[in-house]
Parts: sequence; C-alpha cells; structure tokens
Amino acid sequence: MLNLIHPSDLSVTHGLDSARIGTRPLVQRRLADLRGCFADVPAYEAALARDNPLIYAVTAVEPAAGDGQLHYGLGVLYPGRVGDEYHLTKGHHHAHRPAAEVYVGLAGAGAMLLEDEATGESRLVPLARNTVVYVPGHTAHRTINTGAEPLVYLGIYPANAGHDYAVVGQRNFRQVVVDRGGLPTLVERAVLSLRP
Ligand code: F6R
Ligand code: MN
Repeated sequence: MLNLIHPSDLSVTHGLDSARIGTRPLVQRRLADLRGCFADVPAYEAALARDNPLIYAVTAVEPAAGDGQLHYGLGVLYPGRVGDEYHLTKGHHHAHRPAAEVYVGLAGAGAMLLEDEATGESRLVPLARNTVVYVPGHTAHRTINTGAEPLVYLGIYPANAGHDYAVVGQRNFRQVVVDRGGLPTLVERAVLSLRP
C-alpha cells in the first residue's frame, strides 16, 4: 500500500494563517456562498451589500480511496458575525451516514454545533487549540468561530464519508449560536428573537 501513496501525501506542512497546503486546491467560502445559512436575513443582505469577505477556506488531503483509508481537511474559519450570529461553516451530513469524524483544534476558539439526524438533539461543544471533538456518525456538524482570531482545525474522516449538504441546505440547523452579552448562546431557531 505504501508504494501507492504519493510521497507528498505522507507528510504535509501547513501554517496557521491560511488553509493552504502547497499548491493543493483550496475551497474558499465567501459571504455570498453562505446565503441561507445565517438566521438574520436583513443583517446578511446588509453585510453582503457592503462586502463579500472570505469566511472560511479548506484544503482536503485525500491520500487514498477505499475501505479503511482516511481523508482530512485543514480548515480556517475567520472571525466575525452576521447580526448576532458568529461566522460559521455551511455544515453537512456525511453522504455515508455512519461515518464519524475527529476534529482537532489547532488555533483560535470556537465550537462545533452537532445535531443528531434521528432525534434532532443538538449539542454545542468547544473546539479550540488543544481541543479534540468527536463527531459521531448520523450527525450534522457545523463549525463556529466565537473568538477574535482565526479558528484553525483539522477534520479527519473515513475516505468514503462524502458530503451531503442537501438536508442542512433545506432545513438548516435547529439551533443558532448567537452573541448574548458577549457569550456564545444556543437558541432555538424557531423562537429566535433577532433584536433582543
Ligand atoms: C469534512 C469536514 C470538514 C468540513 C469543513 C468545511 O467532512 O467536516 O473538513 O468540510 O469544515 O465545512 P463545510 O464542508 O460544511 O463547508
Ligand atoms: Mn464532516
């Protein structure tokens, strides 16, 4: 197997200021790409009318496909808010629902919003430097930057996990993470009051 892995996939070097890994393709999500993600639509449209900043970037490393193999992504989620809601990733299920994932926090401070697909139960768990988060299978997951610095992390997942953005794209997450008096607070989207 070792001879089937490209040598450049055996060890990579990266920084903490961008998600770039050499010349690998970088997926960049700007504010315009996140239409429908934020709860406060007027705040989103107003922000987009001003600018279209980079919200996050990810480089995926996919050394090998097949049973037992792993892929991983290096993500950088930049700080900021839209209305009271912190910058976030689109969020997704894995196309192969049983696939779990391990997130390793490298820099910055934030959280993972987890939502069980069967029960709708939500958990907000810290993701920061020196923090490891386990995302079980069958769980929608979204990364949130609640700090003032870029949140840098690795997500390591089975090679056959895949991404399914459709469910989150249609229904969004049930819960929203907003700044309430300087504290990240989990609020039910259905009862969210945008102007406290
Ligand atoms: C892979 C994974 C991460 C995310 C990244 C961007 O399964 O969970 O690498 O892909 O944090 O988030 P999304 O994919 O939701 O835009
Ligand atoms: Mn994932």
